[in-house]
Amino acid sequence: MAWHVSVLTLFPEMFPGFLGVSLAGKALRNGLWSYNTYDLRHYGLGRHQAVDDTPFGGGAGMVMRVDVLDNALSHVGYPKDRPLIYLTPRGEPLTQKKVRQYAAAPGLTILCGRYEGVDERIFSCHDMELVSVGDFVLSGGEGAALVMMDACIRLLSGVMGGEESADEESFSEGLLEYPQYTRPAEWKGMSVPDILVSGNHRAIRAWRRQEAEKITQLKRPDLWQAYISRSVK
Ligand code: ADE
Repeated sequence: MAWHVSVLTLFPEMFPGFLGVSLAGKALRNGLWSYNTYDLRHYGLGRHQAVDDTPFGGGAGMVMRVDVLDNALSHVGYPKDRPLIYLTPRGEPLTQKKVRQYAAAPGLTILCGRYEGVDERIFSCHDMELVSVGDFVLSGGEGAALVMMDACIRLLSGVMGGEESADEESFSEGLLEYPQYTRPAEWKGMSVPDILVSGNHRAIRAWRRQEAEKITQLKRPDLWQAYISRSVK
């Protein structure tokens, strides 16, 4: 069975978005993953199929109604073996470790919020994992869902060209990527590091690791600290 994502959203036309092209698009056409969208508007109430209302206590924006969301989730259903995810800046930060777990599951069910969010009571009747894709605020969960799906899809078996490329990436071992170069070897007076054209694969591996460590220390001291405390153990 292909890795499958069910997306509940007010904007089904946002899917598959950029996942319809390139690596993920090819994998989609080859049946390595699949998705369905469910339009939350279909569960809206009244003549206008209202899905949201003004917040109790006042304030700007609109809040998605708990009865509408509950109806949608109950009607669509979500298999227990697939994590049910709600995307929000308040969620657990998405890490490569979590991505590996999600990619290893049979798939995901994702609820995308819009406006100022969802009525808090929805979390009492549906057990969801709250996930954030970063410390910034998007206008809705759809962009975050696509980002999260992309990170998972590239890890699915058969998706990446070179089998080792997903694995070899330094992020999977907690370091940022080392610098890469390709032809031309000389460009605007700049040459590529000699070691990379030396043919000495051991030395190249050592150089790359050293560069990855340097870049991580410089750009992401937080990742560097986590990396060294792990290698000490
Ligand atoms: N929805 C809005 N902003 C988000 C974020 N940073 N991560 C996940 N979902 C979001």
